[in-house]
Amino acid sequence: MDDFVRIVEVGPRDGLQNEARPVDTADKIELIRQLSLTGLRTIEATSFVSPRWVPQLADAAEVYTGITRVPGIAYPVLVPNEQGYDRALAVGVQEVAVFTAASETFNRTNTNAGIDESLARFAPILERAKADGVKVRGYVSTVLGCPYQGEVAVSEVVRVARALHEMGCYEISLGDTIGVGTPRKARAMLKAVASELPMAALAVHFHDTYGQALANIDACLEEGVRVVDSAVSGAGGCPYAKGASGNVASEDVVYMLHGIGMRTGIDLPALATTGRWLAARLGRETGSKTGKALAAT
Ligand code: HMG
Ligand code: MG
Repeated sequence: MDDFVRIVEVGPRDGLQNEARPVDTADKIELIRQLSLTGLRTIEATSFVSPRWVPQLADAAEVYTGITRVPGIAYPVLVPNEQGYDRALAVGVQEVAVFTAASETFNRTNTNAGIDESLARFAPILERAKADGVKVRGYVSTVLGCPYQGEVAVSEVVRVARALHEMGCYEISLGDTIGVGTPRKARAMLKAVASELPMAALAVHFHDTYGQALANIDACLEEGVRVVDSAVSGAGGCPYAKGASGNVASEDVVYMLHGIGMRTGIDLPALATTGRWLAARLGRETGSKTGKALAAT
């Protein structure tokens, strides 16, 4: 089995979208500059959602135009609707990510639309993106539980993932938005989706609310997934998911992957340095245990 895992670094977007303390545009640009030197191949740069809903990322256009895009690195951005797509296209974005959920209530809270309504919103984006040569990734949130509905049916995760794939999303990221999943459940969910879609088109996205993210990732790696989303310094959370803590820390994921003999192409000490730099800018300690341990050695 292939031993290369692609890390999708979501810190500049998922990490910074939920910060109470405003982060300067210049710091966001500096974060992406530093991340671009670590060997990462995908860095989710920002989000063109409504600034009323997520004021933290209201400077999306300034951030995107301020970064130096390194050849060979993809810098996707989140878009919720055609208006977001227009804004992204206007600054030369080459990859976008659309997002919906496996829970109807969560999706309404997060995007003011039901699941099927959001899929209908994406259809024209996918069509335009094809003509524009823009790649589209798709997210399914709340795949292992919902802050409002509780249990989420695996059949619904499969249905929504398949719909995104059929529309033309090249990769579907399965998100445990509130970090409630545990390894066997995570693996079973992935297996169910992979029974209908190619494993190569799937990614996993764990928040670490209950400390299960690394165990969940390991279980999903055993099932065959080779794309993992994570955020440097363990930053993040969804403003519309009560109680959701940060993403699993990229440093911790990379440490685990290298430890089990997998390759990422990432310079771990450099990534950990960036994680500590970000934490300092946010006025706290790094949320990565690996980041702390490396600083102490
Ligand atoms: P709405 O209020 O229903 O939108 O929000 P609307 O179409 O009725 O428009 C209302 C106003 O917003 C209008 O302005 C629009 O122009 C403006 P007004 O005329 O009142 O001045 N507007 C926009 N402005 C800029 N960019 C846009 C845009 N769209 C509308 N793209 C909407 C619907 C989807 C826009 C809103 O609910 C929204 O932005 N939601 C995003 C919430 C969000 O970002 N959540 C976090 C990301 S998802 C996540 O974190 C999960 C993930 O990490 C995976 C996981 O962990 O599971 C991906
Ligand atoms: Mg997330």
